[in-house]
Parts: sequence; C-alpha cells; structure tokens
Amino acid sequence: MKKVLITGSSSGIGKATAELFLKNDVPVVGIARQHKKFIHKSKLYEPIEADLSLIESLPKLITTILQEHPDIDVFIGNAGYGDFQSIENFSANQIRNFLNLNLISHITLCRFIVSHMKYEKNGTIFFYWF
Ligand SMILES: NC(=O)c1ccc[n+]([C@@H]2O[C@H](COP(=O)([O-])OP(=O)(O)OC[C@H]3O[C@@H](n4cnc5c(N)ncnc54)[C@H](OP(=O)(O)O)[C@@H]3O)[C@@H](O)[C@H]2O)c1
Repeated sequence: MKKVLITGSSSGIGKATAELFLKNDVPVVGIARQHKKFIHKSKLYEPIEADLSLIESLPKLITTILQEHPDIDVFIGNAGYGDFQSIENFSANQIRNFLNLNLISHITLCRFIVSHMKYEKNGTIFFYWF
C-alpha cells in the first residue's frame, strides 16, 4: 500500500480511517469541505478542500489529484450523509443533492480512479456509503 485517497476525511468514519493509516505511516490524501474539523500534524496527510456534490467539477479535481499523487493505490469512497425524513417531504433539489453526493460523485471519481489503477495494474477500492 503506497498512498490512500479518502473522501469525507474530516470527521466520523473517514477521519478515523485516515488516522489509522497515518498511525501506520501510510500517506493519506483526504477530501472534504471543512478540514478544520481534522487538523493533522502528520506530514503524510494532505487535505484537499472540495465539495463533492458539485459533479461538474469532479473530473478536473480527480485528474489533478492523480497527476500530483500517481502513487495512490487505495481509494476509500466515504463522503456522504443520511437524511431520514419522510420521502414525501423531500424537495427535488434535496433529492438531487443527496444522490449527487451519495451516489453520482462516487461513480464519477471511480471512472478516473479505475482507469488509473488499471494503467498501474494495481489498486483497491472500498465504499462506506449506504
Ligand atoms: N454512521 C452511520 O451510522 C452510517 C450508516 C450508514 C452509512 N453511513 C455512511 O458512511 C459514511 C460516513 O459516515 P459518518 O457517520 O462518518 O459521517 P460524518 O461524520 O457526517 O462524515 C461525513 C464526511 O463526508 C464529508 N462530506 C459531506 N458532504 C460532503 C461534500 N459535499 N463534499 C465533500 N465531503 C463531504 C464530511 O466532510 P465536510 O463536512 O467537511 O465536507 C465528512 O468528512 C457516509 O457516507 C454515511 O452516509 C454512515
């Protein structure tokens, strides 16, 4: 394992996972909107600020990350949220935002990551969402 990319690394399961890798000296690139929730002193941690629900921005974001970190060989798709209100109370915008982050962003990132891992003939992908 050379380097791990984790989405939603600023809190909860993503943060705990990032801390575990860093404790074992595995470099981590973490994506979230608000990294001040998790300021890690390790030089092995690189926080990247991005809103993953902005789907159109993701191809450029992940292309840049993979160019700067071609040694990423593990991807953990974790960013997401639950919304447990009754279905009839969701607005169209809320449904769109929910699916954009919890589903479409993971698939979009994977389009590029799978291609990168196939080229490198190595890679592992985990999903924590849903
Ligand atoms: N905990 C549970 O019981 C449970 C159960 C089933 C599924 N899950 C799923 O497991 C994953 C982690 O859960 P958790 O409990 O650890 O959640 P959490 O503590 O709320 O953490 C969610 C992470 O996702 C990031 N995130 C949220 N919206 C984002 C956005 N638009 N762009 C970029 N990053 C974003 C958050 O960072 P920022 O806010 O800084 O952006 C945070 O780092 C989620 O996908 C959740 O839906 C959790």
